[in-house]
Amino acid sequence: MPVTGLLSVTLEVPDVEPGIGFYTDAGLLCDRVGPDAQLRCAGQDRPSIVLLGGRPRKRLHHVALRAADLPQIAERVPANGGKLVAAPEGFAEDGLWVEDPHGGLFHLVDCAADAELPQGPEFRINAPGRIVRTRRSAILPRAAYPPARPLRMGHALLFTPDVPESVRFLSEALGMGLADHAQDVIAFCCARTNSDHHVLAFAKSPGIGFHHASFQVADPDEAGRAGRALADRSRRGDWGFGRHTIGSNFFHYIQDPWGSWFEYYADMDFIDDYDLWSPTNYDMADSLASWGPKVPDDFVHNYEVAGAFEPA
Ligand SMILES: [Fe+2]
Repeated sequence: MPVTGLLSVTLEVPDVEPGIGFYTDAGLLCDRVGPDAQLRCAGQDRPSIVLLGGRPRKRLHHVALRAADLPQIAERVPANGGKLVAAPEGFAEDGLWVEDPHGGLFHLVDCAADAELPQGPEFRINAPGRIVRTRRSAILPRAAYPPARPLRMGHALLFTPDVPESVRFLSEALGMGLADHAQDVIAFCCARTNSDHHVLAFAKSPGIGFHHASFQVADPDEAGRAGRALADRSRRGDWGFGRHTIGSNFFHYIQDPWGSWFEYYADMDFIDDYDLWSPTNYDMADSLASWGPKVPDDFVHNYEVAGAFEPA
């Protein structure tokens, strides 16, 4: 079971400052390294988002994945239409650097799993015939809540010109599994053991690119509260609060300074053993959400290949 999780997303950007403002408003911590910025969750000592500053335009540089059995991956990559390539200048040579059939770059690193997150308070709701919370309010006054605290980056969604081909490469070369998909337009892939419903996902586009990275928060209330606060502060597009059909997670998306998205999520489906999971092909009506506000017009627009995003 080669790929076991997502480590980081690295983006080239002209100017790191708007990105630092956005991601720290979202609750990440920033470490500056020369012209670049590394953004991490408060409880982690490694970055989730890396911004490479001073580049001509925003574009996805690479995605880093945690993986085991790298020699097996090294054999399977060329046999499945990919290439093993040298580390880009200035990047670590450890692990494997892999180019997929569409030119997307992945860095596979064999490193220890993250520590389990500490157990949070139970999210209890009163329901018909099932009263589980009495003599107290579920919701505190607004001022009682601290700023959002993303716990970890759970998944990223990338653009690809050929969704089934990207899924095939992830499955055959990198040892992941197709969790679910909606036609040939969007697909969600998991690790084969003890995985969130999706770790990497793909949406159809004329070219490759970065759509969003998603950060887990404690519960649905924090996803909604944090999403509203970040949307009000950033004053760009947002989509949420809502709940996905595929993966079942509650979500709130906020547009980043380059037209791609940041997601807060809570309560995602979990696949403990991929051999016991059956992927579903959903209708397009279920491709984005079970319920939620109207989807922004440019929610699935790849600004890395078409059009210029005008930041607020
Ligand atoms: Fe997501």
